Amino acid sequence: MARTQMAHLPAAHAPQLLNLDQLTPFVDPLPRPPLAQPSPANGQRRFYRLPIQEFSCQVHRDVPATRFWGYGNSMPGPTIEARSGEEIFVEWRNNLPLKHFLPIDHNLMGAEKDKPEVRTVVHLHGAKVPPASDGYPEDWYVPGTAKLYHHPNRQDAALLWYHDHAMGINRLNVCAGMLGLYIIRDSYEEGLNLPKGEFEIPLVLTDRMLRADGQLYYPVSQRPGAPWLPEYVGEAVLINGKLLPYCEVQPRKYRFRLLNGSNGRFFFLSLANGQAFHHVGSDQGLLPCPVEAQRLTIAPGERMDLVLDFTDHAGEQILLNDQAVKIMQFRVAKEKVPDASSLPAKLRVVERMPEHAAVRTRRLTLEEVDYLTGEPDVHLLDGKRWHDPVSENPVLDTTEIWELMNLTDDSHPIHLHLVRFQVLDRRPLNTGVYLYQNKLVYTGDAVPPEPHEMGWKDTVRATPGACTRIIVNFSGYPGRYVWHCHILEHEDNEMMRPYDVIAPGKA
Ligand code: C2O
Ligand code: CU
Ligand code: CU
Repeated sequence: MARTQMAHLPAAHAPQLLNLDQLTPFVDPLPRPPLAQPSPANGQRRFYRLPIQEFSCQVHRDVPATRFWGYGNSMPGPTIEARSGEEIFVEWRNNLPLKHFLPIDHNLMGAEKDKPEVRTVVHLHGAKVPPASDGYPEDWYVPGTAKLYHHPNRQDAALLWYHDHAMGINRLNVCAGMLGLYIIRDSYEEGLNLPKGEFEIPLVLTDRMLRADGQLYYPVSQRPGAPWLPEYVGEAVLINGKLLPYCEVQPRKYRFRLLNGSNGRFFFLSLANGQAFHHVGSDQGLLPCPVEAQRLTIAPGERMDLVLDFTDHAGEQILLNDQAVKIMQFRVAKEKVPDASSLPAKLRVVERMPEHAAVRTRRLTLEEVDYLTGEPDVHLLDGKRWHDPVSENPVLDTTEIWELMNLTDDSHPIHLHLVRFQVLDRRPLNTGVYLYQNKLVYTGDAVPPEPHEMGWKDTVRATPGACTRIIVNFSGYPGRYVWHCHILEHEDNEMMRPYDVIAPGKA
């Protein structure tokens, strides 16, 4: 289940990296990403204008400022807060330089030499939006131009996130800093009286490789002219853009909105004092009821909504660990404080979607293609490449079951644009027999989703050697969207496919 840090191909000419052991930990307070301010001059409509630009900021008190490319002036960018049912408009302006500072691989689909180096397009992950505002990977635009997106927000309260999605350089743009949060709120959730205001804290985890001079490092392969690597894993874990921050809290309940915004790294989080988290929500909002957990496994693209209760820990310092490595420190104040917030035993009703509601089941493989030529391995969805004809074409408002047959040795977080779904189960299978004899042999029983996966999701861990089944109602808008692996190195190299939602009657 756990995915180890692989290094299929050694990187060439690694520079000197920042030595984390020599850094004093917990000298920087955990920042909160700024709140995006709507533009005043636009009448009734809520309208935001966000530049995509170069800036620098310090990830640690003792490290020189790092150059980022991102939204506004911070990494993560400004948080957009929206209300369910109230539309907003966002103008994303590309003000970036003309030359990229991370290594482009021109062999990748969509990043050929004839394409401009610096291109961007913004996708709001988890949002139900019309195709024209979804950030289709080929809808990129160049410095000096802008796009206006419409967000209807017709969906439940949830933590979404926006990030770059430009074809073939997505991994580089996101690594450079192009990501931020988008929170949808609704009155039902507010009625639950979960911790709010200063007691609700976003936690955006992103790992990076940093040079000794504080600059971002993105390694390249040893193949000349083909720098792509199958995986980016950095030792430096930034939380809201800071390395080894501390977070001052009071002895009471807090709500943490956690996002794994890394390119490819999974996190395995726990508190050093053994204290438990309470899951209250998943990618697409509230769970049916809180789920207690001492360890959190979160894949790239996934979100967790957590309540942590420090009431009995006044005066303590509590480490947040990723596996055995400390990444943040909570400092709990000594003074007792009143806490009027609650952690209700029931959160909301999430009806399980019955399997018989599905009009169609699609069996889709996740597989690795080995070239015997020494080329790096490429992962494909259902054996197809980006430019193969569209094969997933659900009819609007119908329900389907997708069987994600992971024939590889890695866990791949699979994400579908436009929709929310439920996880049905995971069942181990014999991948060798499937690959070489084309026979499906299960080697065990179907395992139900974990309790914290029993709500609505938009990204699911397809675990290795197993069939992960999801059930999806394709509601929203007809048109072209994408589904892909959220390991951005995979996504940039063919592990992404277009899919069409067909208007009824046009099928
Ligand atoms: Cu985070 Cu295509 O998405
Ligand atoms: Cu998405
Ligand atoms: Cu993948």
